[in-house]
Amino acid sequence: MSLVAAIEWAEGHHRRGLYSPIGVAFHWAMAALMIFQLGYGWYLGWQPAGGDKYLGYQTHTEVGLAIMLLGTLRFLWRSQIGTPDTVDESSFSGRASHVLEVWFYFSFFALPISGWVMWSTLPSNLPLSIAGVIPFPNLPFDQLSEGLQHRLMQWAATAHVWVVWITALAIPGHAGAAVLHYVVKRDRVLPSMFDLNGPQAPGVAGSAPDKGSADEPPRA
Ligand code: HEM
Ligand code: HEM
Repeated sequence: MSLVAAIEWAEGHHRRGLYSPIGVAFHWAMAALMIFQLGYGWYLGWQPAGGDKYLGYQTHTEVGLAIMLLGTLRFLWRSQIGTPDTVDESSFSGRASHVLEVWFYFSFFALPISGWVMWSTLPSNLPLSIAGVIPFPNLPFDQLSEGLQHRLMQWAATAHVWVVWITALAIPGHAGAAVLHYVVKRDRVLPSMFDLNGPQAPGVAGSAPDKGSADEPPRA
């Protein structure tokens, strides 16, 4: 399938109030990785120093860099297409949910980049890779003075922890709002991120009228 055909296929889902299976796969894979990464990062922070902690952080860097790669692909995909028209974007809640989504995209890069800076200031260029498979370079900080490396480490650690906290607070807000839409408003915001039946059979409880274009064949 060419990119143009893939975009038209995805837009077909959007016109019917659904994210495409590509959008759904990106969303749930990255949501799971982000939640894992936050929980595991905190768990490691409480562990005593030693070999296990170092190995744990190595896994942390591999997952974090995989999030950055997936975030890049997702951002490129998302920049080519719209989203289903499920919320009133000019309402307060519509704007608030948009701000949270933009924050999540920011965090997919800010966390790995600040982590990368921290890791690169550690002595002896500890190896990095994306998902343990694709080698990834350290930043060339070993050429800087020790004092500057120390300050970079502190700035990056502060940034990492701030973005961690804001993201950790934003996730329940985002997920809670989606559940409230389903339980209270009974609209299709939450099903738009679950339903994989495709444009020909949305099958979503409480679906809004079909918004498919007139030149498509009628559905059975
Ligand atoms: C999206 C991805 C990431 C998330 C959600 C994340 C999350 C976290 C969390 C929750 C902590 C514990 C903070 C604390 O103890 O208060 C942490 C620490 C840390 N992370 Fe990440 N991280 C990510 C990516 C990365 C990457 C890619 C690297 C390295 C290449 C990295 C390196 C580190 C390091 C070195 C620490 C220890 C910081 C310290 O003890 O001051 N992280 N991260
Ligand atoms: C765990 C429970 C979660 C639920 C129930 C949930 C639900 C949803 C729903 C229903 C939407 C569509 C909203 C709309 O179209 O207005 C959405 C979008 C989005 N969610 Fe989540 N989400 C969850 C977790 C997460 C996590 C952990 C992240 C990342 C940290 C995340 C990032 C996003 C982003 C970036 C979008 C915008 C979609 C796009 O256009 O790329 N979600 N979510």
